[in-house]
Amino acid sequence: GVDTLLRVTPSMLKEHRTRDDAWSAFSGKVYNITPYLPYHPGGEKELMRVAGRDGSKLFASTHAWVNLDYMLDACLIGFLVPE
Ligand code: HEM
Repeated sequence: GVDTLLRVTPSMLKEHRTRDDAWSAFSGKVYNITPYLPYHPGGEKELMRVAGRDGSKLFASTHAWVNLDYMLDACLIGFLVPE
């Protein structure tokens, strides 16, 4: 629930950039993308490009029509905050 969500800084985000422990931020929300990797229609390699960082721009330029909030709701970790 909301009470367990984390405040994630860019440097914390950066520590989660491997296939088995991949976090990414989209529009201020931080998600654990690891469970979704095998299901991404664009492939794991494409999605791994945003591991450990803010993927908002790449996401918007590839498929802004996809409802990420809805799809990854169960993978929400917290919110991106300044250092
Ligand atoms: C395709 C979801 C992140 C690159 C798709 C599709 C979905 C999806 C549902 C199919 C869209 C359609 O057919 O209309 C997601 C989610 C993401 C994410 C939930 C975030 C967690 C990214 C990122 C990139 C990317 C960051 C690029 C670096 C692509 C590409 C396709 C695609 C190239 C097209 C594949 C094809 O049609 O052959 N993604 N995506 N995706 N995605 Fe993503």
